[in-house]
Amino acid sequence: MTRSLVFNLFLITTAAWLCAYCSSPKKELSQATLLRSPYLQCAFKDSLTILWRTDSGEVCHVEYRSADQEKWQQATGITRATNTAAIENEVVLHHLLPNKKYEYKIFTNKQEQLPDEKFWFRSPLTKKDTAFTFFAVGDIGEPVDEGGTPDVLAKALEPHKDSLAFGLLLGDIVYPDGSSQRYDQNLFQYFTKVFPYVPTYALLGNHDWQLPDDFTKEWKLPNNEHYYSFDYGKTHFIGLDSKIGDFYDYEEQVEWFKNDLQKRAKDTEWTIVFLHHNGKSCTYKQDYENVIALYPIFEEAKVDLVLNGHAHTYERLNPMNGQGEPISQYIGKTATYANPSGFISITVGSGGKLRGIGSDPKPFTPDPEHCRHPNLVAKANHLWAYLQLSIEGRKLKAKAISTEKGDVVDEFIIEK
Ligand SMILES: [Fe+2]
Repeated sequence: MTRSLVFNLFLITTAAWLCAYCSSPKKELSQATLLRSPYLQCAFKDSLTILWRTDSGEVCHVEYRSADQEKWQQATGITRATNTAAIENEVVLHHLLPNKKYEYKIFTNKQEQLPDEKFWFRSPLTKKDTAFTFFAVGDIGEPVDEGGTPDVLAKALEPHKDSLAFGLLLGDIVYPDGSSQRYDQNLFQYFTKVFPYVPTYALLGNHDWQLPDDFTKEWKLPNNEHYYSFDYGKTHFIGLDSKIGDFYDYEEQVEWFKNDLQKRAKDTEWTIVFLHHNGKSCTYKQDYENVIALYPIFEEAKVDLVLNGHAHTYERLNPMNGQGEPISQYIGKTATYANPSGFISITVGSGGKLRGIGSDPKPFTPDPEHCRHPNLVAKANHLWAYLQLSIEGRKLKAKAISTEKGDVVDEFIIEK
């Protein structure tokens, strides 16, 4: 075939294709119905991701503006299939101005979803700003008709959403097996007044580990979504995956953890580690050796706080050294710590499934007074509670708040 014949054939084919494209009617976008309210992920640096779910949808976008801007900006996203019949809508916002309140509207197939709802979020801090408040709690999504209290937790958090920069969800997010099919029923349906406003960072717990691929489908997280870190202001957060106590890829993860600690910014003021399993504890759960094996790293790297779930109760330990011994000068001093050496470890697995109540009638034993570890516990309360932590420069204020009554059941301050 000569070169000119090939060229002519190419022209004819292209023209025919273009003609067919121009004359075909435009595909109508279907009417999409919202199945899951928006939830916010990956809020750090100048970026934030908004996810929501609909029953159908080919295109999605978000309109957003900061409170002092008149003009709406637009960001388009992607839609994709999920583990259920729902379609996930994902929009990533970039170049956000720091520490500003933004309003936003969500659109699937160009139709606004929940137009009567006024959604907003607060954009992440820069390194210059050091004051923020966040919450942490684990063991949440137990069905309400089986004695669970995710609804009570959501109602307790809702009035504080204006002041909460984000939340850490410390594993065992959805009982009994972390199945995608149960996420809306056991979790999201209760948090429609919290998750559209307060970003969250979830971790896998042993229950979520029954279906780990479902976990990664439901959340969008940094790194490999199992273990990750992020900076907020001058605080460095590191989430670990303790799997069923034995850790996901233990050696590789510990190596990553050590490197991550080494790579912290020089002006980091606080380091907070969060994971599902406890190390030493006086709750009804055993001590987990793989967590205890990290204690020397916590001490050496000057980790300030270690937050975990797993035991369905609240327990704060005295500052410990790398050998897991309570440091004697702090025993009995539970309110204010000035320049403490060692780290403070807290179990706050009291989000929605309290042992001894509902479907889990086994008694809460042992207790701190009859514990295998003398002088370990600074404060323990067997009730539904979440942790509220406020950082202001070199001061950290922690409060455990009862989700049922709203009262403060434990409180301490660390000053550096
Ligand atoms: Fe657990």
